[in-house]
Amino acid sequence: MDWKGLPVLVTGGASFIGSHLVDALVLAGARVTVVDNLSSGRLENLRSHLDSQQIRFMEADLRRQDAAEAAVEGQNCVFHLAADHGGRGYIETHDAACAVNLMLDGIVFDACRRAGVQRVVYASSGCVYPSYIQGDADNIVNLCEDSVGPPFDSDGIYGWAKLMGEKTLSAYAQEYGMKTVSCRYFTAYGPRATENHAVMAMIARSFIKQNPFEVWGTGKQVRNWTYVSDIVEGTLKAAEHAGAGGAINIGTMEGTTVLDAAEMILKRMGNSPVIVTRPDMPTGPYYRIADNEKLAKLSGWRPRVSLAEGLEQTINWYCANKSQSEIRAKLPQLLSER
Ligand SMILES: NC(=O)c1ccc[n+]([C@@H]2O[C@H](COP(=O)([O-])OP(=O)(O)OC[C@H]3O[C@@H](n4cnc5c(N)ncnc54)[C@H](O)[C@@H]3O)[C@@H](O)[C@H]2O)c1
Repeated sequence: MDWKGLPVLVTGGASFIGSHLVDALVLAGARVTVVDNLSSGRLENLRSHLDSQQIRFMEADLRRQDAAEAAVEGQNCVFHLAADHGGRGYIETHDAACAVNLMLDGIVFDACRRAGVQRVVYASSGCVYPSYIQGDADNIVNLCEDSVGPPFDSDGIYGWAKLMGEKTLSAYAQEYGMKTVSCRYFTAYGPRATENHAVMAMIARSFIKQNPFEVWGTGKQVRNWTYVSDIVEGTLKAAEHAGAGGAINIGTMEGTTVLDAAEMILKRMGNSPVIVTRPDMPTGPYYRIADNEKLAKLSGWRPRVSLAEGLEQTINWYCANKSQSEIRAKLPQLLSER
């Protein structure tokens, strides 16, 4: 797809993933507008584009209908990433805040319909998958797009709201002919990510030389940490295939336990503390890995960055951009707030 000169909007574009998506769209020559209320997004993430005036930035709260209408006006494609969201430490402890996404998504999608936006790409999540198929160590399944169906059993209010967002878009595609796609992101990490996500939390703990070193859960949980450049490339490929309102997994199939990821981080950062597990803390399901064949077959997309390579990049960024005294002072808050 040729993005050159195309007017595109990235809602939540000052976020971790949003800002990397903006980088890619600017590089591809799109005319990018970002709308963000900066509730967790940071202008710093967009600094180079703001300084060079390569993007238009609107600070606005998309829960307001007039703000949503102004943002989507004249856009050809809307990437909707704005959400009340955080990592496990946040979504398990902030149900009421995450419920806001039901309203936010509804307002943005309806504004897109009324403005005649041709393509809507939605940041959904692996959290839409039924929890009951992710808990059994004796019956491991990689999550395939069509395993979201009755009986629905999404992951908390955050997951249910993403599911409702998907269903709304799907209905809009079928009843109004809008081209839509829901991208189910899995455990993204990379530069600019925040400490309320597991990998970043572990890098932060290692950075301040925490000892004993805490790992939430039993540490045996398996995740497919997916590097942000793979997430962004997958999102652009999925956008090309927007159509009848389907959903597409964007995640690697490289599974790693939390304890193994902790060991990799500690080794790379030259630390060897005592590790203690905290099963009493927010943990998430036992096994969450995407089946990523659908996007591979549609577009040839494959994740390119291994966990070892991605951790190297992320740790380098973290150490170059953070201060030990600040992280030490704020860590408990960083792990569970946005
Ligand atoms: N990070 C992950 O692993 C992951 C996994 C699955 C899905 N997602 C989804 O990807 C998207 C981006 O997530 P992220 O991790 O990059 O960071 P994030 O959760 O911080 O991004 C959300 C962005 O939306 C903005 N925002 C929130 N409410 C808003 C409102 N009312 N009006 C305008 N802007 C608002 C925030 O300021 C922030 O920039 C989110 O939709 C998230 O649910 C992320």
